[in-house]
Order: sequence, then C-alpha cells, then structure tokens
Amino acid sequence: MPDFIILKKKISQFNKTISISGDKSISIRWVLFASLGSGISTSKNLLMSEDVFAAINAVKKLGIKVKLNKNECKIYGRGIDGYTYKQNLSIDCKNSGTLGRLILGLLINSPNLIKLVGDKSLSKRDFKRISDPLSRFGAKFKLNKFKNLPLSMIGAKKLKSIRYKENKGSAQCKSAVIFAGMRTNGTTIIKAKKSRNHTELLCKHLNLPIVIKNKKNYDEIKVNKVKKIQALNYNIPSDISSGAFFIALTVLTDNSILIIKNVNINSSRTGIITILKRMGVKIYYKNKKVYKGEKVADIKIVSPKSIKPINCPSKINSKAIDEFLVIFLIAAKAKGISFFKNLAELNHKESPRLDWGNKILNLMGVKTIKTKDSIKIYGNPNLNINKKIEIKNYLKDHRVFMTSVIAASTFGGKWKIFDKDSIKSSFPNFLKILNEIKKQ
Ligand code: S3P
Repeated sequence: MPDFIILKKKISQFNKTISISGDKSISIRWVLFASLGSGISTSKNLLMSEDVFAAINAVKKLGIKVKLNKNECKIYGRGIDGYTYKQNLSIDCKNSGTLGRLILGLLINSPNLIKLVGDKSLSKRDFKRISDPLSRFGAKFKLNKFKNLPLSMIGAKKLKSIRYKENKGSAQCKSAVIFAGMRTNGTTIIKAKKSRNHTELLCKHLNLPIVIKNKKNYDEIKVNKVKKIQALNYNIPSDISSGAFFIALTVLTDNSILIIKNVNINSSRTGIITILKRMGVKIYYKNKKVYKGEKVADIKIVSPKSIKPINCPSKINSKAIDEFLVIFLIAAKAKGISFFKNLAELNHKESPRLDWGNKILNLMGVKTIKTKDSIKIYGNPNLNINKKIEIKNYLKDHRVFMTSVIAASTFGGKWKIFDKDSIKSSFPNFLKILNEIKKQ
C-alpha cells in the first residue's frame, strides 16, 4: 500500500466538539516514573502511539512487567533499584527524543553496558547535549560520530552530583539531569532556561526531594537522592501539541468553532494560545481544574474575521516549540508580515523544522525570508492555492505530515503528502478526527 494521501478539497465551516489523545510528554514520563515505583501504577488515557510503545518496550526490557489494554495501562514497578537486565542490552527508542534522552538519566548508575538505537530521524539528532552533562556524573559514553545514535553507555557506582546550566530551553536535557541527580548522594543544582516542567511537577506530586525556585528568566532546581518512588495512578490529559493542528484548522476556516475537551494547559505549553490571542484569535478556557499539579481545561476556538501579524517575542519560543509549523501556516494568512526569531532549536527536531516550515510555505506560494534561526513570513489574507503540491522526504516527521494536511484542508490546491504512517508516533487518530470534523 502506498504510504501517502491525496487531498484536493477545502474543509467547509464547522461547529464541533472533539476529544483527542493523551499528552505525549506526560505519557512517556508516567511510564518511566511508574517503572521505578514501588507497586502497581495504573494510567488512563495513556497515549497509544509508537513513541509511548517504545517507552513501554524499553522498561519491559529492563525487567518491568507491563499490562496494556484499550482503556488502561498497568506497570508493575519493583522499586527504584528494580531493573534487571543483562550486559549489552539494546534499547530501541524508535522516533522518540524524549525517551532516548530521559532514559539515559534513569540509567546513570547502570552497572552494565547499554546500547541505545533509534530510527533514521532520531539517529540524526544531537545526543551530545545529554552525554556531556551525564558524563560529569561519572557515566561513560561512546557516540556515533561523537554525537549521535547508536550510542553506548555504562553507568558508575560512585556518582558525583553536578551543577548544570541548561541554556537551550530543552526539557529533555533538564529532565535527564533531574533523573540522574536522583541517584547521587549529593545535591545536583540545575539552572535551566524555562521549558516544559512535567518532570518537576511529577517529582513534586510524588514528594521526591526536589526544590524549585522559579526566577524570571530561568528555574533553579535542586535534586537530592531519591530512596523510594510511590506507585503513581494517573489520568492523562489531552495533548495541546496534537490539539494545535485542530486549533489551526479552526483559525484557518471561516465561521467555525471548535471545542477540544480536557487539554493540558500547563503554562509551559500554551505558547500557541498566547501567540494566537496576540494575532487576534478568540480562545477561551472552560471547566478549568488542576490535576496532580497540571492545569487542564476545555479549549474553545472561534475562527477570526481577520488575522493580525506578530513579531513573536523569543521568550515564548520554548512554550510553543512543537507548534511553530502550524503557527507559520496561520502567519501565512495574516494581514502583514510576521517575524519569528531565535528558533535554532527548531532545526533539532524530528526533521529540521525551521527549514521544512519554510519549504512548505514556499511551495504554497508564500514569500518568506529565512535565516539559520529566524523566519519572516509575508502573510496574505486572500491566499488560495490552485496548484499541485508534493510533500516528501522529510524524515517522516509526524508534525510535518499533519501541518501539510491542515494546509491542504484550508488553503486549497491538490496535495500529495507522503509518509502518512508518521502520525503513529504521536497522534494515530489524527486523520480519523479530521474526518469526523469534516462530516456535516
Ligand atoms: C519534550 C521536549 C521538547 C519537545 C519534545 C518533547 C519533552 O524537546 O520538542 O517534543 O517531552 O520533554 P526539547 O527538550 O529538545 O526542547
């Protein structure tokens, strides 16, 4: 079966309520924390995607029993030192940067050599950003081309706590160091540029010895040795990064309204809402609540009469890091020129996303000026595509696929978009939900 879809019709106006799948960052973290818990942890609404299955398979290989069915997942933790595995164990992280980076922190005290492999996309990504700080704890690494997967790591018995400055705004780097810090006798001190804080919130909820001071531009995190992690039952809220595609669909479709139920609106994740509100979009939260430290709400989006351009402040970047591809699409329909800067991190994702965002816009006939870390987008409120567009060879980046589908459904043209299977890594139900919205 050819792995592409053809789209040649714009969506008509809609007024719908949808539910989407569980948050990917929280799902993977739940699997990892539960695998070290003392006793049985149960989750509901765990994201059933390949990235999360890779995390489940990883902890199974480390000797942890997991039972997964349609409605819930049970992990039978054997305590903080409960992993059992042989020398030269190979863990396949598939497409998941979060799994690949976080698990290295968890395994910092591994007495056995562990090999980490991933798919073509993950094997191109930077793991030196993780091996550098983790080496300072005492672990030893060997990386392909000094920075990539496959890599091998052997932990140390005697670990040193470290002081670490995280200056990329990477939650994966920060989290890997938090996990490693939990294994040492001293205090690990992290000064981290702001980024998503699900790991810290879970540590707090579990009463682990972590102290966080939120400063204006960074967070200071102090971690001490963890002796025990309790089992963790968790009802995972929906993923705003998946919701973002349907938020964009609504913004780009005249006279439409969408409600997305029970979404995680942690302020370290809602950059897209801040940006779109500044661009004149009406977005409301309903049924707000706090669940285990995470804010959750239903999100209501009303398509705007016109879209304002934005000069996007860089301090929002890490809060919207996975949403820029769709934000660029919205800027393409704004009345004026939008500017996004200090976005070098975007080219470190599943594909070089700043380059791909730019390429998709250019194929759509949108004028842009791109540098190595910024993009200027010349918006056109009347943009309407009449030509053929093909999207392929983008390292099967799930978000490039879904962004292209949203563009095809809202701007017109005849699109052939390859690698449909890429959605399995983060949002397997994406096309099904889109078709439900299309149905009148
Ligand atoms: C994630 C952190 C972000 C994000 C990724 C998920 C996480 O990556 O892009 O999709 O779950 O910690 P970085 O930490 O590399 O910015």
